[in-house]
Amino acid sequence: MAKPGKYAPNKCLETLLDMDKSAAAAHLPVPPVPARKTVPGQGFEFSNLSYSVIKKQKKDGEWVKKDVYLLNDISGQAVRGEVMAIMGPSGAGKSTFLDALAGRIARGSLEGSVRLNGKPVTTSYMKMISSYVMQDDQLFPMLTGGKEKTS
Ligand SMILES: Nc1ncnc2c1ncn2[C@@H]1O[C@H](COP(=O)(O)OP(=O)(O)O)[C@@H](O)[C@H]1O
Ligand SMILES: [Mg+2]
Repeated sequence: MAKPGKYAPNKCLETLLDMDKSAAAAHLPVPPVPARKTVPGQGFEFSNLSYSVIKKQKKDGEWVKKDVYLLNDISGQAVRGEVMAIMGPSGAGKSTFLDALAGRIARGSLEGSVRLNGKPVTTSYMKMISSYVMQDDQLFPMLTGGKEKTS
C-alpha cells in the first residue's frame, strides 16, 4: 500500500484543490513549458495558415457581410514517428484546421504553406496519402447496410 504522503492517491478533490490554492497563494514558480524544436524540411510542416469566411452579421439593425478569420496565422510541425494531438476548447477551430489540411474547405481559400519533407503538398496529394475520420457518424445507426445505401 502507498504510504500517505505528498502524492497519496486517495486524496479527495477538495484536498487537492486546497493544495492548489495554497500553492498559488505561496506564489510557487510555475515550471516553464519547454519550446518545441522544429526541424525545417522534415515531416509535415504547416506555416502561416489562415482561412477566412464571409459571415453575415447584424449591425445597427442592418445585415452586413464581414470577413471572419477561423484560422489566423497557424504554424507548426508534425515530426515523423511522433503522435501529434490538436487540443483546444470546443469552437477553438480544431475541426476547421483539420478540414483545411485535408482539403475539405473551398478551393483556394487557405493561405499559407503545407509541406511534406520540405516539398509543397497539393490537396489532391494530401487526399491520396492521408485518411480523415469525421467527428460525426456519417451513417445512421438504426439503418441496415442495405437501407443506408438507398436512404
Ligand atoms: N464555414 C463556416 N462558416 C462560419 N463559421 C464557421 C464555419 N466553420 C466553422 N465555423 C466556426 O468556427 C469556429 C471553430 O469551429 P470548429 O473548427 O468546429 O471548432 P472545434 O472543432 O475546435 O470545436 C466555430 O465558432 C464555428 O462556428
Ligand atoms: Mg470539432
